[in-house]
Amino acid sequence: MRYPDKLLEEVKDRAKGMKLEGINFGAGPVHPKLMIVGEAPGREEIESLIPFHGASGKELMKSLASIGLKREDVYITSAVRSRPYSVKKVFSKKENKEVTKYPNRKPTKKEILAHAPLLDYEINYAQPKIIVTVGTTALNRLLGNKYEISKVHGKIIKNTPILKLNDAKDGYVWSKEKYTIIPQYHPAAVFYNRKLAETITQDWLNIKPLLKREN
Ligand code: URA
Repeated sequence: MRYPDKLLEEVKDRAKGMKLEGINFGAGPVHPKLMIVGEAPGREEIESLIPFHGASGKELMKSLASIGLKREDVYITSAVRSRPYSVKKVFSKKENKEVTKYPNRKPTKKEILAHAPLLDYEINYAQPKIIVTVGTTALNRLLGNKYEISKVHGKIIKNTPILKLNDAKDGYVWSKEKYTIIPQYHPAAVFYNRKLAETITQDWLNIKPLLKREN
């Protein structure tokens, strides 16, 4: 999907001065089987313009396939739609001099708030019944800080409101609409902790019976 120009302008303005690169539109159908909400695009996504196109994306596609879904069946987006980067000066042995690198990083709370109109717009547009948050950033963005991923991963949280931008656009309020939210570990979690692989596989399988009922 393409965000309306006016919305993009608004978000650009809200994000002025933040270390955020480019814009990667969310993608997927209206009334998807489910919506995936991640953290923020990385370099691969900003270059390809496809959400979850890099290494995390490969893991995510495996999880989707395990419950009979393809990329086209789901709507994929994240809490922040630009790449958060840091500025690091490192010594390059190859070039024998100091060079500046711009690695990916986690988005800050301010950046998530700045980009909140985009996620709200997408949820309104796609009207998902089921939202799968992947990672802590997405979980906190939609359900606040009351849940910890290590405790709720794979659980089905039914009939819950979600956080959306307030009228003053400087904080969040609970939505009137209710959703089914399923928090999952971020697909990149296995890169840091291989032991999570089996848990993640099991957690995704919990979603499958729900899809049968919904469709
Ligand atoms: N992580 C995300 O949250 N989104 C992407 O598109 C890629 C990695």
